[in-house]
Amino acid sequence: MLLWDETLFSNGEVLEFDYLPEYFEHRDSQMQALRFSLKPVLRGMRPVNCLVKGPPGTGKTTAVMKVFNEVKDYTDNGAFIKVNCQMDSSRFAVISRIYEKLVHITPPSSGVSFRRLFEKVIKHLVDSNKTLVVALDDINYLFHEGHADEVMYSLLRAHEQYPGTRISVIAIISDVGIPYSFDPRVGSVFLPEEIDFPRYEITEIADIINNRVQHAFFRDVVSDEALDRVVSYVDRTGDLRIGIDLLKRSGLNAERRASRTISVEDVDKAYEASRLLHLCRNIRSLSDNEKTLLGLVAKDNNLQIGELYKSFHEITGLGYTRFYEIIDKMHASRLIDADFSGKGMRGRTRYVAPVYDPKDILKCLE
Ligand SMILES: Nc1ncnc2c1ncn2[C@@H]1O[C@H](COP(=O)(O)OP(=O)(O)OP(=O)(O)O)[C@@H](O)[C@H]1O
Ligand SMILES: [Mg+2]
Repeated sequence: MLLWDETLFSNGEVLEFDYLPEYFEHRDSQMQALRFSLKPVLRGMRPVNCLVKGPPGTGKTTAVMKVFNEVKDYTDNGAFIKVNCQMDSSRFAVISRIYEKLVHITPPSSGVSFRRLFEKVIKHLVDSNKTLVVALDDINYLFHEGHADEVMYSLLRAHEQYPGTRISVIAIISDVGIPYSFDPRVGSVFLPEEIDFPRYEITEIADIINNRVQHAFFRDVVSDEALDRVVSYVDRTGDLRIGIDLLKRSGLNAERRASRTISVEDVDKAYEASRLLHLCRNIRSLSDNEKTLLGLVAKDNNLQIGELYKSFHEITGLGYTRFYEIIDKMHASRLIDADFSGKGMRGRTRYVAPVYDPKDILKCLE
């Protein structure tokens, strides 16, 4: 073992998930679009609402946080608040979080209504003459049971009920291929500037990872081969989060075997743990019924759709229509294969199979 004070990390902090990187390249046009949308705050005007979307780990949250920090340096006219919808996944939870960050007091978790809290938030904004910009991060988690619509509707129509209120929304969608849509009533007040975060090219991934390595490790700790290996793993999913997690775990693996350099084997071993990150994140954003269905599919590979429906109905009590909606949605998001096969004597039967390794799926569902 290395001694307590011996380490490969010169600054391991830059490999933590909540670290906001100083070096943030390859997102210029997206950063400009965000700045442009927020600029009206400086003039006491309502900013343009935004819809930020792209696959996981493409820098959406980071870009919004960086622009928030920039604009905060320029003006006191605004309150810029990010809500993580994975943690706060109802209308009440979202407004509680906004209240807490705005007023710096944690509201009680019960005994106070949404409306009352909302009115307090509005009063605070009006009294301080501030514009509220809310980033609803990972709004995917709100799409079940109409929560997203409720939240958006309340925030974006506030000025009708409370004249003078200025609230705008940045909705951040981690696009994992699962279809989503807002209620038409929301659509009529939410005509956002759409800002796309496409997957990074492999050369961009290499540049970002390389820069992070320079900050995180002492010189010559990461060989070119190990670095290439990390980059090629990231390129499989395009999720940079995996790359940063890989760097941390590989470093720890190397330290564990008392090595002063990270080998390709350290990276390969780390990948066993990191690769689930991506899948688990997708699965966590599913609703309970969707998770139930995926669990059934993972437990029994290649089920006939009729049998699957029976088991699903027994557990959830849901009927055919909902069942097929969920099948279609999960098929579209490439979590399951649901293809018709020509097999069998009695014509075409639809079989359902998991796309990912069932063991991995079950682990993420735990
Ligand atoms: N251009 C970049 N330069 C440096 N680091 C980056 C860049 N893009 C992303 N990262 C890093 O990758 C990780 C993932 O980024 P981020 O959390 O912003 O992704 P995201 O698009 O919000 O993902 P998700 O949809 O899963 O929420 C973070 O650790 C971030 O620091
Ligand atoms: Mg994010």
